[in-house]
Amino acid sequence: MAEQDVIELLMAQHGRIRDLFDEVEQAPPDKVGDAFERLTRMLSVHETAEEEIVHPYARRKLDNGHGVVADRLTEENRAKRLLLDLHKSGVDHPRFWEGLAALRTAVMAHARSEERYEFARLRAHTSVVERRAMAAAVRAAEALAPVRPHPGTESATRNLVMGAPLAVMDRAREAIRKALGKR
Ligand SMILES: [Fe+2]
Ligand SMILES: [Fe+2]
Repeated sequence: MAEQDVIELLMAQHGRIRDLFDEVEQAPPDKVGDAFERLTRMLSVHETAEEEIVHPYARRKLDNGHGVVADRLTEENRAKRLLLDLHKSGVDHPRFWEGLAALRTAVMAHARSEERYEFARLRAHTSVVERRAMAAAVRAAEALAPVRPHPGTESATRNLVMGAPLAVMDRAREAIRKALGKR
């Protein structure tokens, strides 16, 4: 199963992030807020999973791993800043669309750099077993903040789902550390 490999899983999430940007851009005016919340949640979970799981590994395993990861973190922090600002000002802000376009550019350029400079090399330096273990931790974070909650579970996850990005990141981090046995 493709998703048992952490690289495949994270690349699939990059695809989903791109689709979620499309959904925000194409949403009718009354649905922009919901679509943006879904994007926020996915981005928060995804970047937290990379920070907690994949980057530490890359730092240890790759030649110049520290440099590669430092570059990714710079991109990630810039994207996170844009996301937090955009979430704070909200979808009704007159410059929302401008901000969303800047976020999209930053996030997608960052995803391409990860795939090119980090993931490809990481695949060559890890075993299938290691990549599966990392995938399980990513899925633990995802399960905690599902991108599309099933009908009926909506209210249980609503606080988290509609929560500010930082809260989602904290919860995702907690779930990942638990899955990795760090707590
Ligand atoms: Fe990332
Ligand atoms: Fe990524």
